[in-house]
Amino acid sequence: MVPADAVRSKTPIIRNRFLKPSAAADGFKHYMDKKPKIGILGVGMVGGTLKRYLEEKKKFKRGRNLFLYDTDRKKGYQDNINFADVIFISVPTPQNRDGSADLSMLKAVFETINGKKIIIIKSTVPPGTTEFFSKKHPEHKVLFNPEFLTEANAWHNMLNPERQLVGWTRNNQEAAQRVLSLLPQAPLASPSSELNLTATEAEITKYAANLFLTRKVTFANAIFDLASHHGANYENIKLGIGSDPRIGQSHLDVNYHGYRGYGGYCFTKDTNALIAHYKKLGLQHSADLFNQDRIFNEGLLRRQGLTPNDVSLHDKEWIKDKPACRTGRKLK
Ligand SMILES: NC(=O)c1ccc[n+]([C@@H]2O[C@H](COP(=O)([O-])OP(=O)(O)OC[C@H]3O[C@@H](n4cnc5c(N)ncnc54)[C@H](O)[C@@H]3O)[C@@H](O)[C@H]2O)c1
Repeated sequence: MVPADAVRSKTPIIRNRFLKPSAAADGFKHYMDKKPKIGILGVGMVGGTLKRYLEEKKKFKRGRNLFLYDTDRKKGYQDNINFADVIFISVPTPQNRDGSADLSMLKAVFETINGKKIIIIKSTVPPGTTEFFSKKHPEHKVLFNPEFLTEANAWHNMLNPERQLVGWTRNNQEAAQRVLSLLPQAPLASPSSELNLTATEAEITKYAANLFLTRKVTFANAIFDLASHHGANYENIKLGIGSDPRIGQSHLDVNYHGYRGYGGYCFTKDTNALIAHYKKLGLQHSADLFNQDRIFNEGLLRRQGLTPNDVSLHDKEWIKDKPACRTGRKLK
């Protein structure tokens, strides 16, 4: 893997400029287009929210400058994605048996893309993945734009992101800036004069944010156990801890969706994927640190009669499929 600094040193930083005169010459004529043709591969929670944004806020029209493809025929999105110049990929990255991220769907969709495109991976992927695809497909400009939306407030999060990061590979900073200009603005943006992330840095940022939050949940549950042992009211303690702006109230709840511990579509698989990645790199101490959170969480779930699979669901599936859990289970 090429270290970020090495990539930087070879690549001049271009700020506050979306277009470069040479862009048309390298075959990426769409750099020059005010409104490029956009494609979305995988129109689920993430892709579907992006679709809504492009249609409602940017006035993109399906079939004219917006092309959608999803393998789920019931969704009715079977457009020819190759009509697009700029393609967002938001297919699932579930976990393999060993916990690592399964990139097979991502690999499969790359094979369906022809010509020279700007491709933005939005799926959560292990550090180095975007660099890998960039090298494997040098004909494209491959970028990474992590998605931070929450399922409960997806549309609000889409319109009001805290940060909008488009991480670049090789010499693709102009493409990153162009893509950034298509997305909702955020107080912190990259590339910008404030921040200039490589794709690998953006990939790590996404995992780090999720694992920090899962750690907060396990921490909160450990404090809850202490409070319960002493007959103390955890809710009072929670307010006391969370009032510190360095800590904050979020993810200190010990009963979310009616069970203790973390769950949801992403937390379990992302934790497992990062642990597997640390192990692959031989960074065993860090793998152990996060593995301990995983073991703690699985224990909590087990004592409620749940498995990580039971709670690794989209919110809407949870509400549909798990009414018993929503009403709350007692820890065994
Ligand atoms: N759900 C979230 O809140 C959230 C937040 C941030 C990041 N992410 C990440 O974004 C990615 C997608 O998550 P999601 O929640 O949108 O998943 P999702 O399951 O809601 O949607 C994925 C869609 O991709 C489709 N698909 C599968 N294989 C395909 C293929 N080969 N070609 C085209 N379409 C295909 C599926 O039919 C589905 O409609 C994952 O990597 C996830 O970790 C999700």
